[in-house]
Amino acid sequence: MTRGEPMEPLSKRRIWNALARLETGPFGANVHYYPRIGSTNDVARELAASHAPEGTLVIADEQTAGRGRMGRRWEAPPNTGLLMSLIFRPRLSPADVHRVVMVCGLAVAEACEASGAAPVAVKWPNDLQLGGKKFVGILPESAIMGDRLAWVIVGIGVNVNQVFTPPDPLYETATSLRMVTGSAHDRAALLARIMSRLNEWYGYLHDERLLEAWRERCTTLGQVIRARTAEGVVKGKAEEIDLSGALWIRDEAGKRHRLTASEVTLLRT
Ligand code: BTN
Repeated sequence: MTRGEPMEPLSKRRIWNALARLETGPFGANVHYYPRIGSTNDVARELAASHAPEGTLVIADEQTAGRGRMGRRWEAPPNTGLLMSLIFRPRLSPADVHRVVMVCGLAVAEACEASGAAPVAVKWPNDLQLGGKKFVGILPESAIMGDRLAWVIVGIGVNVNQVFTPPDPLYETATSLRMVTGSAHDRAALLARIMSRLNEWYGYLHDERLLEAWRERCTTLGQVIRARTAEGVVKGKAEEIDLSGALWIRDEAGKRHRLTASEVTLLRT
C-alpha cells in the first residue's frame, strides 16, 4: 500500500497525524523527532535517565552513528527506513528483559504483515525476516535498579523503502518491505500501525500468549545452529525458547545448553 509521500522526510506533524488515526495508548504520546541524529538509542537513554514517561518515542530520518547488536553498525539512507527507539518501564526482573523485545518484534511483524509483507519470521534472538532475509533489527538496552529494570530502551530499525541491488553485499542477506511488496510505503502510517500493535502486545507482557506467538514465528527452532558463548562455541539443534526468551539447544552428545540473547552471537553453520 502506498499513501502520502513515502520518500519525503517525516515530520512531527506527519507522525502526529498518522498516530491520531489509531489507538496507540502511551506509545508515541511523546514524540522526539530528528531529521538527522547520531543514534536514536542514545537520545532515548538520556530521556529515560531524565524520567521520560513510558512510551516516549525517539525517531529520526537519518542516523550518523546507528548501532546494531554486538558492536555492529546499522546503516540506512536518509528517508528510507524507520529508525526509532522506545522507552519502556516494565515491571520485570532483568533476566526477563527479552520479553520486551518479543512485544516489539510481534508488533512490528503484525504491522508489516498488514502492509502486505507476509509471513514475517523471527530469527532468534532479535531479527525479523522476510523470505529468509533480514529486514528488521532490534537493539534493547536497559538499566537496573535493585532487582528490577529501571528502564528499557528498544531501538528498532525497519527496512521500509530501501532497495538493495548487486553487488551490494547486503543484497544477499537483507531485504525491505518495498522489495517484498513491490511498492513504496508511507513510513508514518507504518509507524502508527506499529505503535497500535505495540499497545496491544504490551498488555501480554506477563502472559504465556506472548511466548506462544513468538515461538510460532521463530524459524530458528528445529534448526542446527552454532553460537559463540562465554564458554566457547557450541553447536546443536534449537529445541525450545523459555519464558525469558532464552534458546535451548541440544548438542550431538545430548547435552542441553541455554543461550541468552545478550550473551550469544549466532555463527554460520
Ligand atoms: C541489529 O540487528 O543489530 C539491531 C539493529 C538496531 C537498529 C536500530 S535503528 C534505531 C535504533 N538506533 C540505533 O542506533 N540502533 C537502533
